[in-house]
Amino acid sequence: MSSAKPSIRLLATGGTIAGAQNASGGYAAAVMSGDELLAAVPQLANLAQITAEQVAHIGSQDMDESLWLKLAARAQMALDDPAVAGVVVTHGTDTMEETAYFLNLALRTDKPVVLVGAMRPATAISPDGPMNLFNAVAVAAEPAAKNRGVLVVANDEIHFAREVAKTNTTQLGTFKSPNRGLAGRVNRGRIHFFGPTVRAHTMASEFAPLAVAELPRVEIVHAFAGLRRDLIDAAVRLGARGIVIAGVGAGNLSSAALRGCAEAAHAGVAVVRSSLTGGGVVERNIEINDDELGLIVAEELNPQKARVLLMLGLTRTSDPAQLQRFFQIY
Ligand code: SIN
Repeated sequence: MSSAKPSIRLLATGGTIAGAQNASGGYAAAVMSGDELLAAVPQLANLAQITAEQVAHIGSQDMDESLWLKLAARAQMALDDPAVAGVVVTHGTDTMEETAYFLNLALRTDKPVVLVGAMRPATAISPDGPMNLFNAVAVAAEPAAKNRGVLVVANDEIHFAREVAKTNTTQLGTFKSPNRGLAGRVNRGRIHFFGPTVRAHTMASEFAPLAVAELPRVEIVHAFAGLRRDLIDAAVRLGARGIVIAGVGAGNLSSAALRGCAEAAHAGVAVVRSSLTGGGVVERNIEINDDELGLIVAEELNPQKARVLLMLGLTRTSDPAQLQRFFQIY
């Protein structure tokens, strides 16, 4: 039997996992390179042969659509290499769920793709990054991780890209999968998978492999008591092709703002109702007559993930019925 370890490509983008603490208790994200992160965990040599590529050097608040396209292209190139068993992406935790869901729909592969970050900088007391990275590589090198879509590994847990959400500003257990639960657990590299995800991804994604030069502009408008329609009208004026409402409760918003949404939809802008509650389903035609107003519902996707799917959907169609279908499939 060959003793060769699986070959894993690490795509480094920055984040707190690559951060350095300063003397006053603050820290700077994205200071260390992917190679430095690997060198800090020599035990990785027991799991895989890893080559690192630095795709970006940012805190993930600076992740954007053009970097997503670059990251997807670099990941797809690695995954298309028959010698590569899986890909690990180091990433800040702030927008990790958006990048993970984007890659989940943009990459054509059955190989494991794992995003990993950390809540404590690499030079903090008791950093969480080294164990998270060890676990992420273990998952990416694991044949049973194939065909599960893009995964997020942190705090000994494995999350599906569609389900995971950052829920706490500082705690190590910030990532939760509130609607459909965990993909599995990983303890010091020992992996326990639960059931598969039922929503389409990667090999079954009609957007993958993604071949577009840019993504359409989609804005998010946050609802609250007293929401006016001005920001919805402004998004339309600024040329947004889509608007996601981060609605109260089950995707609700004030009557004035709803009128703005209906007019935007009438003018050909795709308007998606999602919820800012952090869990549950936004269904069609409950308190709001979506059919009559030409609106789309996000089902379980939180606002930032609904925006990702809407951007991808708008690369194919602006028909609200077709866009709604995407929210039922993905
Ligand atoms: C970031 O998202 O880049 C900063 C926060 C973190 O990585 O935890």
